[in-house]
Amino acid sequence: STSPLTDSFGRFHDYLRISLTERCNLRCKYCMPEEGVQLSPSEKLLTSEEIYRLASLFVREGVSKIRLTGGEPMVRKDIVDVVARLGSLKERGLETLGMTSNGITLGRHLDVFLLFTSYFPSFMQGGLDAVNISLDTLIEPKFELITRRRGFSRVLECIEQAANMKAQGRLRMNCVMMRGVNDDEIIPFVEFAMKKKLNVRFIEYMPFDGNRWSDNKFVSYMEMLDVIKKRFPSFHRRRDEDKANDTSKAWKIEGEEGSVGFITSMSQHFCGSCNRLRITADGSIKVCLFGNEEVSLRDRMRSGDGDDQLLDVIHAAVWRKAAKHGGNGDMHELASSKNRPMIKIGG
Ligand code: GTP
Ligand code: 5AD
Ligand code: SF4
Repeated sequence: STSPLTDSFGRFHDYLRISLTERCNLRCKYCMPEEGVQLSPSEKLLTSEEIYRLASLFVREGVSKIRLTGGEPMVRKDIVDVVARLGSLKERGLETLGMTSNGITLGRHLDVFLLFTSYFPSFMQGGLDAVNISLDTLIEPKFELITRRRGFSRVLECIEQAANMKAQGRLRMNCVMMRGVNDDEIIPFVEFAMKKKLNVRFIEYMPFDGNRWSDNKFVSYMEMLDVIKKRFPSFHRRRDEDKANDTSKAWKIEGEEGSVGFITSMSQHFCGSCNRLRITADGSIKVCLFGNEEVSLRDRMRSGDGDDQLLDVIHAAVWRKAAKHGGNGDMHELASSKNRPMIKIGG
């Protein structure tokens, strides 16, 4: 029989994204509306025990990578406990534990996550080993416009700190590109990647409920490439660095250590090789970033389902997964399809 994590198109899902909270200490315009979003009552959110139970089950079925998302994962009060518990799954087949953070408070915890490794032998392979930090501008006042909050220098410090701990895992930066907002910073970001010797990924702006996406603000992969190639003629694609299930396309400037990636969800989707499943903070399995078919695993756990029953529910959801996302390549169709706001998905 096939694995419960294989879908009807033969895609095996070995990457689980777990959203830990619907809250965030920023208010990024591309992620949520000014007034925020309706938060689920706290008793509807998964506890750290429930997260651990589900994560264990997925790891048992072959998941080798877990990425923690949000909202902002660090605003969860028991974040250290969650990371510690999930880190222990490395003894049972988990290979990579990642987190995508806005970097506002991650800095002060980075050393705590690393302390695990020295205090507890079971965390020898490290708590977190794939940190992605979001930063969409290198200009402080613009940061406050995009995020509607302060904290630019703290994010920069966090990136600095994480870069210095590079031996402990890999670091990536995420930059959502928006016309008229930060498209004048493509070259500065490429230069930042080179100077700091790290990986910056430019992300095509995607539509979600309440984020005011429009095609005027959309900047495509091809357009970004043109801008960079004009300035750096030796900018070239590194297909050898693209892993089979990567969301990003790797590029590099000859002779430089830093690198650049592009996440082309809109202009060149990568649904065909998708290996991702999601669990929302309120405990639903979401098999695609887009589309709104969800099933509550929380309700099943709380009504006493055993692991095998949970796996049946998971398998049924995975089997229903569509071949590609709702828009079928048409951006406007995608923009008008129903989904959660980004803050309640976690990317
Ligand atoms: P890695 O785990 O390092 O490969 O990172 P990632 O790119 O999967 O995750 P991250 O949380 O850093 O998200 C970066 C961007 O990729 C965000 O804009 C996400 O919304 C987007 N992204 C993540 N997973 C998917 C996916 O399955 N489909 C699409 N279309 N976009 C995704
Ligand atoms: N389009 C593309 N990327 C987005 N992110 C948040 N909202 C959007 C959007 N509308 C990114 C964040 C973070 C990652 C999880 O998703 O910047 O890096
Ligand atoms: Fe918070 Fe990330 Fe959304 Fe920005 S994109 S509001 S940092 S969850």
